[in-house]
Amino acid sequence: MRVGILGSGLMGGKLGTIWARAGHDVVFSYAHSEQKLNRLAREAKGNATAGTPSEAARDADALLLAVHWSRVDDVLKQAGNVSGKTIVSCSLPMNSDDSDLVIAHTSSGAEALARKVPKARVVSAFGTVPSEVFFGVFAARRRKRRPSLVYCGDDTRSKRIAAELIRDVGFDPVDAGPLRIARYTEPFTLLIARLAYEGEEGPELAYRFERFGKPA
Ligand SMILES: NC(=O)c1ccc[n+]([C@@H]2O[C@H](COP(=O)([O-])OP(=O)(O)OC[C@H]3O[C@@H](n4cnc5c(N)ncnc54)[C@H](OP(=O)(O)O)[C@@H]3O)[C@@H](O)[C@H]2O)c1
Repeated sequence: MRVGILGSGLMGGKLGTIWARAGHDVVFSYAHSEQKLNRLAREAKGNATAGTPSEAARDADALLLAVHWSRVDDVLKQAGNVSGKTIVSCSLPMNSDDSDLVIAHTSSGAEALARKVPKARVVSAFGTVPSEVFFGVFAARRRKRRPSLVYCGDDTRSKRIAAELIRDVGFDPVDAGPLRIARYTEPFTLLIARLAYEGEEGPELAYRFERFGKPA
């Protein structure tokens, strides 16, 4: 797949690197310096390049939106026409000091994003884990018991694309249903962040759902 990265920071930089290493064509875009984008492309050691958001969006099978909530409008404007595109978003609707959600309960960041780009197909994914865990999950991808990763969206084809990208990182994709379920997954991330950043065991944290059959 050709994957355009809109926001090449902690999330976008790592996920783009992993997807390039997994064999996808990746375009890193949107950072404060071009040198950083070039370095990411070089160090990804796969088929990765640096570009503008509009270059990242052109011909992309999927776009990863990975910017602070306050930068969403700007990066989308620079990306240009995203009609028909699959946008996988890990961006959470956080306030300026990242202490709380600015949208919750009755809507979600993912739904607000879908309203901004009504002709794109938004899938919410990757936002429920800290970026620090991605390389560890990728390194352990051949293990049988993979960590879960929930995702949700309203378009079947785009959800299939997102599930493939989730699997390529090393997670077990868990389809949580329509995009409105992001109302629950986004606040869940604040719990994960609490455990990752306020605990003593470090931020390399993922989660796994287990099902148990009925007792015999
Ligand atoms: N970090 C996590 O563990 C985590 C977990 C779950 C969800 N999320 C969500 O994922 C999204 C991305 O988070 P992140 O931690 O990856 O953020 P980040 O590291 O700050 O990355 C944002 C990217 O946007 C770029 N950027 C910001 N302002 C810009 C501007 N004015 N012009 C050009 N580029 C600009 C940054 O450039 P520079 O690289 O030059 O700074 C960076 O590449 C957020 O919505 C966050 O809430 C993050």
